[in-house]
Amino acid sequence: MNFQLTEEQIAVRDAAREFAQKELLPGVIERDEKQEFPYEQIKKMGELGFMGMMVSPEYGGSGMDTVSYVLAMEEISKIDASASVAMSVNNSLVCWGLEKYGNEAQKRKYLVPLAKGEIIGAFCLSEPEAGSDATSQRTTAEDKGDYYLLNGTKNWITNGSTASVYLVMAQTDVAKGHKGINCLIVEKGMPGFVVGNKENKLGIRGSDTHSLMFTDVKVPKENRIGDDGFGFNFAMNTLNGGRIGIASQALGIAAGSYELALKYSKERKAFGKPIHQHQAISFKLADMATRIEAARLLCLQAASLKDKKQDFSKEGAMAKLFASEVAMWASVEAVQIHGGYGYVKEFHVERLMRDAKITQIYEGTSEIQKIVISRSVLK
Ligand code: CAA
Repeated sequence: MNFQLTEEQIAVRDAAREFAQKELLPGVIERDEKQEFPYEQIKKMGELGFMGMMVSPEYGGSGMDTVSYVLAMEEISKIDASASVAMSVNNSLVCWGLEKYGNEAQKRKYLVPLAKGEIIGAFCLSEPEAGSDATSQRTTAEDKGDYYLLNGTKNWITNGSTASVYLVMAQTDVAKGHKGINCLIVEKGMPGFVVGNKENKLGIRGSDTHSLMFTDVKVPKENRIGDDGFGFNFAMNTLNGGRIGIASQALGIAAGSYELALKYSKERKAFGKPIHQHQAISFKLADMATRIEAARLLCLQAASLKDKKQDFSKEGAMAKLFASEVAMWASVEAVQIHGGYGYVKEFHVERLMRDAKITQIYEGTSEIQKIVISRSVLK
């Protein structure tokens, strides 16, 4: 693995850092408090090419590598994890899935505007009774000849109300188990498709998470991705890459927490000196820096394997498992270093601590990552 970033990768990282400081930092506390989606900011991210980073320019994307995506995700997530989850889902789950497995007509119609950031996409796998156990889909897509009749409910859908295009996993033939699942491209506004209530969440409160209801929605056959029964494999393959996105988000939350704690430790004095001169604090900072660097290396390793078109499913799961644990731990340490100030909103670390938790849950819980890793090391 080459540890040296290219000039282009450094430029992407710096552009994302500058954007996050200038455009996401102002208002991030208010958006969190009011549960406001960062519409304007996401629009600008689209204009800068952050919403379709790895998509080929032929389909409206930026044509960048996964390493650049990790670097940009880290910088955006240091400041606003609500914006970065919208970015991650659009890039890794929706655009990647469409570019890899969609047909030419689907790419022209849906991928191009998604990659340009003109519209946003959502990935709809989770259900009230099928989260980790993704094969147990209850949503049905009945084959009616030239269309599917879609019925069911999806839960915890990121970009739930803001998306225009939804990749929906549904069961066509229960008898075939996971081989009976299809992925359908559903458009907002299709009759029978209703966006349900917004979830009032602990963290990533600026991200809009909804349940979705489908009642006799007629989805044209041409909107199926891949062959009949490919939906579950589509979801698994896509989630492998999605885990690199969420691992990078977790890395950004950890690094953002660390940077704030480091700055505060140099400004705050106690017992006659800046608190970083007390070993109790400097050792915490040393531990944070070390674990964050390890998380960063795991993210970059998974990204680098993906860019080389090698299998990265184990490494992506390792990156997500480890980085999300580091995010949770480092953000709690950052609050501790801030003392009472860490517990109030103005200092940002309490939000990062709340945001960190979801990285251990979505796109596969930590336990799911251990299933993926253990299957790989035991085979
Ligand atoms: N990569 C590629 N393919 C995989 C895979 C992986 N990591 N894991 C399983 N598969 C394939 C298998 O190869 C098999 O394919 P074939 O039949 O063609 O050989 C098929 O999937 C079924 O495999 P299993 O029988 O092993 O499946 P399982 O029922 O034991 O489940 C699981 C495997 C890993 C637990 C899977 O169900 C899983 O990943 N669950 C978690 C789902 C998840 O991440 N949900 C998050 C929702 S998305 C989200 O959060 C988005 C958002 O909005 C932020």
